[in-house]
This record gives sequence, C-alpha cells and structure tokens, in this order.
Amino acid sequence: MLPTMPRVDETGAAELSALLEKRVLQCLGEAGGWLPFDRYMAMALYEPGLGYYARGAPIFGAWPGGPGSSDFVTAPELSPLFGAALARQVAEVLRLGGLHEVIEFGAGSGALAEQLLDGLRRAGVPLRRYAIVELPGALRARQQARLARFGPLVQWLDAWPEEPDEQAAGAPAGLQAVVVGNEVLDAMPVKLLHWDGREWFERGVVVAAPDAARRLAFGDRPTALRPPRAAEALPGAVLEIHPQGAAFVATLASRLTRGAAFFIDYGFPQAEYYHPQRHQGTLMGHRAHRSHSDAGDLLTAPGSMDITAHVDFTAMALAAQDAGAEVVGYTTQARFLLNCGLLELLQAADVRAVAAAQKLLTEHEMGELFKVLAFARGLVFPAAGPLGFVAGDRTHML
Ligand SMILES: C[S@@+](CC[C@H](N)C(=O)[O-])C[C@H]1O[C@@H](n2cnc3c(N)ncnc32)[C@H](O)[C@@H]1O
Repeated sequence: MLPTMPRVDETGAAELSALLEKRVLQCLGEAGGWLPFDRYMAMALYEPGLGYYARGAPIFGAWPGGPGSSDFVTAPELSPLFGAALARQVAEVLRLGGLHEVIEFGAGSGALAEQLLDGLRRAGVPLRRYAIVELPGALRARQQARLARFGPLVQWLDAWPEEPDEQAAGAPAGLQAVVVGNEVLDAMPVKLLHWDGREWFERGVVVAAPDAARRLAFGDRPTALRPPRAAEALPGAVLEIHPQGAAFVATLASRLTRGAAFFIDYGFPQAEYYHPQRHQGTLMGHRAHRSHSDAGDLLTAPGSMDITAHVDFTAMALAAQDAGAEVVGYTTQARFLLNCGLLELLQAADVRAVAAAQKLLTEHEMGELFKVLAFARGLVFPAAGPLGFVAGDRTHML
C-alpha cells in the first residue's frame, strides 16, 4: 500500500478509540495483565464496530484530492489494469482446471473483485460463483453496493467454504477454485519477539505506568518461541513471526483439492526478512498520509490506524507446501504483471491511466517490494509455469 492524504471524516474516531482502549484494558485485566501483541493487533484491526477495518470509515480510496481520500491506496485502487492483468492469470487457471469459481479473501472496497469480474467476462470465461471472504461486516455493505451489477454471481461467505465431509453427497470434495488475496497476509496479526542479547522474549501489551503519556505500553515475557534465523539476531532486535498468516495458508492449502492461490503483498524471503540490517522488524502503522514506524505509536488511539507487517514469503511457501500444495511461482509484482500482459493493456489506456499503472511497476513504488506467491494443487501447468511466472520466477530464492 502507498500512503495518501488524511481522511476527511474523523467524526467519532476518538470516541471509538477510547471505547476500544477500554476493551483492551478489560482484556488485560482478564488475562492477568499481559496480552500477546497478535491479540492486541487483532483487536486494533478487527474488533467488531471498533477496530480499524470494522468501523466503516473510508480507509480505502482514491488518491489525494479525489472524493473519499483515504489512509492508503492499494494496487486495485490505484489502477483497474492491476485487476485486468490478474484476470488473465485467473482465466488461465480456470480454463486449465475446468474450474468455475473464484474466491477472494479480504476484498476491501471490492475494487479487485470488480476488475476481475469484468476481465473474466471480457475473456469469455464462464463463472458460477465469485465468493468473498471478509472479516468485518462493515466492509461487506460497501462491497455489496459496488458489486450489485453482477447480481447473485457474487456471494459472501461468513466462514471457510465447507469441509469435504460436510458437503452434500455427490458434491465435489474440497475447494476447487482460484483463490486471490491482495494485501491480506500483511493484515494478519503477528507476534513480536525481542532478543536482548542473552534471552528471547515475547513482546506484548501491558497497562502503562500511571505517569506515562499513553495508557498502554509494551511488556516482555520470556518465551520458547524463536524467529527463523535466530542465530543472526543482533542484541535489541525486535522481529515479527507470522503464525496466524502461516496457519491461514496451511488451512487453505489443505482444503484446496484442485486450483491455485495467488497472494500479492509486500515482503521478502526469510534471508532478507531476518537480515541483521532489518533488526527492528517491519511492523508499521498507517494513519492519514503518514507511516508510523515508532512501535509505541501503534498503542495510541487503538483502531485509528492500520497496523501491518511485511510478509515472510518463505514461511508462507513452507506452510503451503507442508499442507500438501505445490509452490508454482514467486516473483515481483512488476514481473508478474508484465508476464500477464500489462504492457499490452497499457497500449489502449490514456495518459493518466498509464501514469497510475506505472506505479504498479516502478521499483521505488510497488514494482519490486510487492511480490506474488502462488501455490496450486491438482493442476498440471505448462513447463514454464503459470502465466505470471513465465519469466523472472524467483521461487529458488524462498
Ligand atoms: C490492506 S486491506 C486490502 C484490501 C483489498 N484486498 C485491497 O487490495 O484493496 C486488508 C484486507 O484483508 C482483510 N482480512 C484480513 N484477514 C483476513 C482473513 N483472515 N480473512 C479474510 N479477510 C481478511 C481485511 O478485512 C481487509 O479487507
């Protein structure tokens, strides 16, 4: 995501944060005075009615100056050509597997769904269902309004699609679909680990001292948890690990019987992620047009800012593989989109659209930091791999 201008409507935000802080303090009391950071992050982002994604505020949106200015802009918000290019990859897998379903996790404003549905229609690929799995109910209303023109083709699922043994007799077993998720893995709660040079601690949240500027503070507890490449950590390092993201990928990979999943996000393979130079981790907040890397800011006014961590793509690939799927591609967003024919799509676009789409590709914007990870099951791809990875695949770097 790229940061944008401040939100226009902040009405009530301070009250919601005060209520959420009260709830965190209550949970702290019930939990004996310490909450692991992933629990706090889950509340700050998804607590019903109060968390950042559960408030119904216009957090996704247009660039500065446009209506509904937002906290950050994601690739599908930036350019419809993102979804148009991805649609070519999705179409390839649907055709290859004789599949008729797309499942999108974390659809945000519904922009990517709209672009994929339009792209698949243009490509003449018949679809039986476009299913959206989204955590907070507040976003569903926004997605429903945006996608109304597609009628009952678009459906919202409250939970994971059914387990094979829960399905009606005769129904195909497991998930048979193309799965997509843009900037979903970075929004999954992470655990924080701190190395003081002698011992590992899990960093959590505690009640701050009475004279402190904020009511919440960080507190460490000894832990048996270790980050990958623990031996390389420098004293003072604070690093994230991603058990929730990995569990999500493992569940998906184990339920997928035929199809492929594509996750697009910012992140690195483990060798880069846990490199000593990155010893303060990647945890970050986004509020208005500012990025907050001072971790203490993340405890101020909970729910008023997005909290994210870069994705450890090695951990996600291993989780998929251990659950029985095959990793079929890993590359930069720029390379993926070019492989999917973005240059061809740009030829028909006007100057403004070209400028916006270029942000998807350029190294210092989204092109290099953002990656695409794909895993599949029950499919045989051409020797060069899925369309988006035919050139510049970096799976060997995971
Ligand atoms: C940064 S936003 C990205 C939204 C959208 N995909 C885009 O590109 O604009 C993260 C999204 O992931 C969703 N999310 C996080 N964890 C999820 C999960 N386990 N299942 C489904 N959605 C999830 C959030 O609700 C939110 O919509």
